[in-house]
Amino acid sequence: QRLPELLRRMPKAELHIHIEGSLEPELIFEMARRNGVAIPYASVEELRRAYAFTNLQSFLDIYYAGASVLITERDFFDMAWAYLEKARGDNVVRAEIFFDPQTHTARGVEMETVINGLHRACEKAQTDLGVSASLILCFLRHLSEEEAFETLEQALPWRDKFIGVGLDSSEVGHPPEKFARVFARCRELGLHLVAHAGEEGPPAYVWTALDLLKVERVDHGVQSSKDPQLMRRLAQDRIPLTVCPLSNLKLCVFPKLQDHNLRQLLDAGLMATVNSDDPAYFGGYVNDNFLQTFEATGLSAQQAWQLANNSFEASFIPAQEKRKYR
Ligand code: ADE
Ligand code: ZN
Repeated sequence: QRLPELLRRMPKAELHIHIEGSLEPELIFEMARRNGVAIPYASVEELRRAYAFTNLQSFLDIYYAGASVLITERDFFDMAWAYLEKARGDNVVRAEIFFDPQTHTARGVEMETVINGLHRACEKAQTDLGVSASLILCFLRHLSEEEAFETLEQALPWRDKFIGVGLDSSEVGHPPEKFARVFARCRELGLHLVAHAGEEGPPAYVWTALDLLKVERVDHGVQSSKDPQLMRRLAQDRIPLTVCPLSNLKLCVFPKLQDHNLRQLLDAGLMATVNSDDPAYFGGYVNDNFLQTFEATGLSAQQAWQLANNSFEASFIPAQEKRKYR
């Protein structure tokens, strides 16, 4: 079997996808029109041309601007449904989807509108596509811990519609320990815990995500390879890293895809997975990430199997259900 065919066809779980980062320019324009929201770009093409990033912050500025067209429950449903159909096409059978409620509640959109729209799409994905999908609520780390607590309070009436919490947005200057108390509260509530760490930020942020936030997975984590002791810890404790190669390329974390350290992470025995992060902005969904990364770095069929297996192992599906994916 040809390797690209294997990569496309193998069943996989996607564990690092920001639903607002799946909003394609065409849908941004459509929602802007139907909601009467002004956007500072004349056309889909002009918007796409603005997707030239130099670092995480340069991306986040345009990503939050894009999300400003989301107003109604239907908008949130349509965005998530478009992603889930694409995921089905990539043989994603399980998706754990991040959403950023503060981006919306700050504009006057109700928490209920956000969660219900996204959750309805997840339910429909199970019944119509056979894709199992769950939501993970992310706190914006450039905002305060107090605001994270308020967001948690607003979401708790819909506690049954999300399985965990995460931490995203501008990393450097906003270390995990800033959110230690709110993560402790989420832990008491039985929520799964993940956090972005070591995307642009130092290995120290991965250490504190593990030891102070007690996260079960690290999102990105690619800077860990700068700290041999941290690499041993991640391997020993089987902490999954949700790696996003095309994101790292587009945000200039690595100068070229050939320079990506995915192989180094796997060789060190880490439970790395491949994911898309913000596919509408970074030029590819999960299969594009697999295909381009394997092409650039010469990974093998054995490593493809390992990555797919890791994605299920690292997922939050119950242990009994995991067996059927092995
Ligand atoms: N929000 C959306 N994508 C992100 C990323 N790659 N890092 C941090 N926050 C994000
Ligand atoms: Zn991310």
